[in-house]
Amino acid sequence: MRLANKVAIITGGANGIGKAIATAYAKEGAKISIADFNEKALTATVDEFTAQGFGAFGVKVNVASEEDIQKMVDDTVAHFGQVDILVNCAGVLDNIQAAHNVEDAIWNRVMDINVGGVMRGSRKILPLFTEQGSGVIINLASITALTGGRGGLTYTAAKHAVAGMTKNIASMYGPQGVRCNAIAPAQVETGLTQSMDGYDMFGFKQATRAVDLMGPPALPEDIANIALFLASDESKTINGVVLAADAGWSAY
Ligand SMILES: NC(=O)c1ccc[n+]([C@@H]2O[C@H](COP(=O)([O-])OP(=O)(O)OC[C@H]3O[C@@H](n4cnc5c(N)ncnc54)[C@H](O)[C@@H]3O)[C@@H](O)[C@H]2O)c1
Repeated sequence: MRLANKVAIITGGANGIGKAIATAYAKEGAKISIADFNEKALTATVDEFTAQGFGAFGVKVNVASEEDIQKMVDDTVAHFGQVDILVNCAGVLDNIQAAHNVEDAIWNRVMDINVGGVMRGSRKILPLFTEQGSGVIINLASITALTGGRGGLTYTAAKHAVAGMTKNIASMYGPQGVRCNAIAPAQVETGLTQSMDGYDMFGFKQATRAVDLMGPPALPEDIANIALFLASDESKTINGVVLAADAGWSAY
């Protein structure tokens, strides 16, 4: 039980990578607060976890809303009495819009969720973590956080911001017992990449030029294994790292 007596909040925990992380953590003894926008998936996931005997609590959250983030943490503390791990996983795509095709509505939405959500979650949890002298934040970045041409402009900018926040938080709060790391996957088999409706075909063509060099897509469980390592004391010397999980794609 690598996460015995721990409580984890996982945003975007009702689907895809977040759900796989929630499952991996629960199997290792953690109690899970699943925070997601999709109420139907949220209820189904909490019911599934409860039926398996896991300690699970659901809170409907839009990570773009400050009020929701406050509620997410306050309700989790009220329910479980503590928080030890925050996984900022909720995120959306930008239809791979290249710079000259960026729509303001897409820019604002992606920035509000992918960047603002991570900032708001971290801002709320850090006083709690510093007071208890420990805590782990794990951010879902993307290989677009470490490279230039593998996504749309907004998504790339947003994930670079996530990488920056990860290092900044690790640097500022590491001395107070807080660790903050990020995972940067390439393609993972989830609902996120299943629909290509409304994609910018120019951006798509440019961003997928090296796709034949990419290995097979990862499974959500592959990413969950990394998130488990980063949440446990096994990684206690790792802080401020953005870990590529792309089977070497970006190493080329
Ligand atoms: N799937 C991939 O190929 C891939 C690759 C690199 C990085 N990522 C990142 O991993 C994270 C998870 O992606 P996924 O593939 O599991 O996606 P997904 O679409 O399968 O799941 C995302 C979950 O986040 C929730 N969500 C979306 N917006 C939200 C909001 N505003 N507030 C609260 N919840 C919200 C959704 O309801 C959903 O349950 C994202 O940050 C994504 O950018 C994914």
